[in-house]
Amino acid sequence: MPKNTKIWKIDTQTVNAMNPEIIEIGQQLKDGKIIAFPTETVYGLGANALNSEAIKGIYEAKGRPGDNPLIIHIAEKNQLYSLTDKVDYKAELLIDKFWPGPLTIIFNSKGKIPKNVTAGLTTVAVRMPNHPIALAVIKASGIPVAAPSANRSGRPSPTSAEHVLEDLYGLIDGVVDGGLTGIGVESTVIDVSAQQAVILRPGGISLEELKQVLGEVKLDPSIINKQISPRSPGMKYTHYAPRGEMWLVTGDEKIVTDKINSLAKDKIQQGKKVGILTLEEHKNLFKNGMVLAHGTKNNLYPLASHLYQALRVFDLHKIDYIFAEGVEDKGIGLAIMNRLFKAAGGKVINLTNDS
Ligand code: TXA
Ligand code: MG
Repeated sequence: MPKNTKIWKIDTQTVNAMNPEIIEIGQQLKDGKIIAFPTETVYGLGANALNSEAIKGIYEAKGRPGDNPLIIHIAEKNQLYSLTDKVDYKAELLIDKFWPGPLTIIFNSKGKIPKNVTAGLTTVAVRMPNHPIALAVIKASGIPVAAPSANRSGRPSPTSAEHVLEDLYGLIDGVVDGGLTGIGVESTVIDVSAQQAVILRPGGISLEELKQVLGEVKLDPSIINKQISPRSPGMKYTHYAPRGEMWLVTGDEKIVTDKINSLAKDKIQQGKKVGILTLEEHKNLFKNGMVLAHGTKNNLYPLASHLYQALRVFDLHKIDYIFAEGVEDKGIGLAIMNRLFKAAGGKVINLTNDS
C-alpha cells in the first residue's frame, strides 16, 4: 500500500520547537510515523527509536539490510543518559567540542532500545545534529529519533528534499523540506571505548580535528584497506552508487586528467555517455563528456556538499560511465575519497609518475 507522503516546507531561519507544524511533525514521529528531515550533513529518515514497529518501517522503506544499525539523534545532552550508562571522559571531551555537529559516538547500550535499532549490537550510535529543523523536530517529539540517511539503500545520500522524494515518495509518511543540507557527507562515526579512539566512518569532522582533542586517533583498517571487514556494519555494503559505471582515478594530476580525457574519448566513440567529476581548477582541461566541477584543492568543502547531488545529476542525464578525479585524503578529503571509492564500488585507476 503506497503511503501518502506529506511535504512540509519549513524556513530554517525562523523554525523553533513551538512552531505549530513542528509540533505536528514531532507528534507524528512520537506516534510511529516515518518522516525525513534535514540535518547539517544529509537528510535523515526519522522514526521513534523506542518503537520497534516504526523502526521496522525504516528498514522496509529504505530496503536496508537488517544487520546495519541506525544512529540515534538527540536534541539535548540529557537524552544520552536514557540510552547509555557510561559516558567516559573521552566522549565528554568530544561532546563538549563537537555537539551539536557531524560526529556520531558509539556508546555501550543500556539495552532499553529495540534490538532492530542497534541490529542486535550491545553498543548504540548517538549524535546531536547541528541543524535548526532537526533539533526542533527532535525536541518537539520528546523522544530519541533513529535516523539513517533518507535514501533507498545503496543510492547516493540525499542533500535535498527532492532527492528524498526521488527515492522514497509513497514509501514514507512525510518530508520536512528545509532546503539544501550544508556539509553534504555524513557524520564521522567514532568509537572511544578502547584505549585508542578509532574512526569507523570518516565524515564531517576530520581526523585532524579529532586528534586535536584526543591526541592519537586511529582509522579503522577497513577505511584504508577494503580487504578487512569493517566494524561499522554499514561500511561493508555497496553505497552511494550512481546507476552508471563509476571509476575513481587517482595519482599525479597531469597524468590523471590526461587519462580521464582518453577514457572519455574512447567511451564517447563507442556511443556511450560520459560524466566527469572534477575540481574547479581542472574544469577546462576536459574536452569531452558532461563535466561537473566543485571545490578546489585548497577548499574541498564545496565538493563534499555537491558530491551526492552530482552523482544524481549524472543519473538524470543517463550517464553510462563516470570518471571521478581523486583528491588529497586530508581534512574533509578523507570522507570524500571514502565516498568516491564506495560509489565506484572499489574500482580505482591509480596512476603515479613512475607507474
Ligand atoms: O550524518 C549522518 O550520520 C546521517 C544523518 C541523517 O544523521 N546518518 C547516517 O546514517 O549516515 P546511516 O544509517 O546512513 O549510517 C549509519 C552508520 C552506518 O555505517 C552504521 O553501520 C553505523 O553508522 N553504526 C550505527 N550504529 C553503530 C554501532 N552501534 N556500532 C558501529 N557502527 C554503527
Ligand atoms: Mg546511509
